[in-house]
Amino acid sequence: MHKNFKNIEKIVYGRGSFGSMERILSEKRNDNGRFFFFLVDQFFKGKELESRIPAESEDSVQFINVDPEEPTTDQVDRLRDEILHTKGIPAAVIGIGGGSVMDLAKAVSLMFTNPGSSKLYQGLNLIRFPGIYHLGVPTISGTGAEVSMTAVLTGPEKKLGLKCDWTVFNQVILDPELIASVPQDKWLYTGMDTYIHCIESENGILNNAFSHAYAEQSLKLCREIYLGEQAGHTADNDDKLMVASLMGGLSLTYSEVGVCHALSYGLSKIFGEKHCYANCLAFQHLQDYYPEGVAEFKRMLVKHQVSLPQGLSKKWKEEEITSMAHVAYNLTHMWNHAIGPHWKEKITIDSIKELYKRM
Ligand SMILES: [Fe+2]
Repeated sequence: MHKNFKNIEKIVYGRGSFGSMERILSEKRNDNGRFFFFLVDQFFKGKELESRIPAESEDSVQFINVDPEEPTTDQVDRLRDEILHTKGIPAAVIGIGGGSVMDLAKAVSLMFTNPGSSKLYQGLNLIRFPGIYHLGVPTISGTGAEVSMTAVLTGPEKKLGLKCDWTVFNQVILDPELIASVPQDKWLYTGMDTYIHCIESENGILNNAFSHAYAEQSLKLCREIYLGEQAGHTADNDDKLMVASLMGGLSLTYSEVGVCHALSYGLSKIFGEKHCYANCLAFQHLQDYYPEGVAEFKRMLVKHQVSLPQGLSKKWKEEEITSMAHVAYNLTHMWNHAIGPHWKEKITIDSIKELYKRM
């Protein structure tokens, strides 16, 4: 079975390209209920970027608090229902923010045309109708949410994405100026999500020349940004990180993530850890699976004077570790990619618990 690759329809890239949003959206203004629905990271409320959002009086701008959790199915349903009952179906949904806000925008755009709760559609190709036009503007780079065909949502029963071709953005605006304000620690954790995407994409049975080409380029950029002579959170490196994130995401689309993301999902589900940080917590202990990647990752941490907590598992209850292990174990596509089709001979709930106990 070959994956049928769905890419973003249109991309604008470059410093100041946020300013092209008004022109891009003007073609859409008369669609559906003739208004736009902007979802914007709370961080930008009162900041300069807020005044640059091309919203007219009929549009709805909602600021989203993304701390401490990732988007939930309830949040998606609530946002959709409020707008639907008061104003109708928007002409476009625009997400301006990090991975969580972009995932929210993707999910909300699908839920305007698919009846019922978003929890009904958590999984692959369960969405029945194309969503409405949606535009993404990343203000944090790394998760690859700008390009992925998944909108990750936490539901009452599972943390699982709405995944289908229609999830992918119609338009993305990549303006590296927008990621300048990312705090130093977050800049590292989110960049490491990209780095880990590439390492995991490369190290598994689904890797191929297509996914490798993107991962190779993304890794090269990550090395310049985090280990090169000009390493650091600079404007030049922001230009690169935005592309690295996109390419890391493209690599994944045609390959798969692996052991680290499986463990990371458990940490997020049980302890609410943010995706990128949870990846870092897990990845540092995965030298058995990704020896070179983990060694290089640790050099990046040292270079940027970031130390990750150790001995976390001492405070965890046995049943919490067991719960996390079950979440991770059930991500069978990741183990299949990382270990191979006979992964169940090597990976058990107990062996996953042992990995959590290293943390
Ligand atoms: Fe990730």
